[in-house]
Amino acid sequence: MSRGSIDMTVILSANQVCKIFWTNNGDRIRAVDTVCLSVMENDFVCIVGPSGCGKSTFLRITAGLEPASSGDVRFRGLEIKKPLPQIGLVFQEYSLFPWLPVIDNVASGPEFAGMKKAKRLDLARHYLDVVGMTEFAAAFPHELSGGMRQRVAIARAFANDPEILLMDEPFGSLDAHTRILMQKELLRIWETHRKTILFVTHSVDEAVYLADRVVVMSARPGKIKEIHKIDMGRPRSRANPSYGELTDRILQQLEQEVMGLKN
Ligand SMILES: Nc1ncnc2c1ncn2[C@@H]1O[C@H](COP(=O)(O)OP(=O)(O)OP(=O)(O)O)[C@@H](O)[C@H]1O
Ligand SMILES: [Mg+2]
Repeated sequence: MSRGSIDMTVILSANQVCKIFWTNNGDRIRAVDTVCLSVMENDFVCIVGPSGCGKSTFLRITAGLEPASSGDVRFRGLEIKKPLPQIGLVFQEYSLFPWLPVIDNVASGPEFAGMKKAKRLDLARHYLDVVGMTEFAAAFPHELSGGMRQRVAIARAFANDPEILLMDEPFGSLDAHTRILMQKELLRIWETHRKTILFVTHSVDEAVYLADRVVVMSARPGKIKEIHKIDMGRPRSRANPSYGELTDRILQQLEQEVMGLKN
């Protein structure tokens, strides 16, 4: 896949972001530690790191759902203090409106933005087709499996046409086959619509398959340990030796973090 001319404008910047939580016992938890990251327009950045290292917290701060304790995240230079229509979310706990059928869930963002009914239903049908959920357009969320609900949530995020998509383990609940199809589809949409994507995953293989850059975070408090730039073209072949080498290297880094070892 060719990406044509690459825009080097910074769309998102995290500056010395720290997050401290206080537990009910009065304990202080430093969840995110001085994270600095610049994301360019049309960048595809994946974040990997041990469980509990602050990946979701960092994404929630970027989404404007949670304030940083210090530092900030900026969208085109302006501090993000609340959710913005330009920034779409597909989160682990992402939920649909239970009272709306699937198609109206997907069309809800465009409806809110004032799009005419026929147009927004066409758009919703298109994205339901993209995620393979056309035949469930009239179903209600409670009639779907977890993976199916997640696919509807992804269709809904795409239908909102945000500039940036923040995705927190969006494919975690999908079966292996659907997951690979969705990875390909996401790359296609990213390529066609020139989105910027910040994507958290536990799968190093997924990160190396998708990303322009893979951010490896340390164990809590989550700092950036290393950023790997991936120069392989797309579509990527898992048979490419560079693919396996990079995957191994990142897995070793994560193992060291989990074992509490330092480089
Ligand atoms: N609202 C909260 N109050 C107190 N502590 C919190 C809160 N949210 C997160 N934490 C703590 O912050 C740390 C980071 O949590 P976070 O959910 O960001 O991790 P994560 O990297 O996304 O983990 P996983 O890979 O398991 O999803 C954890 O120790 C968690 O217990
Ligand atoms: Mg998480």
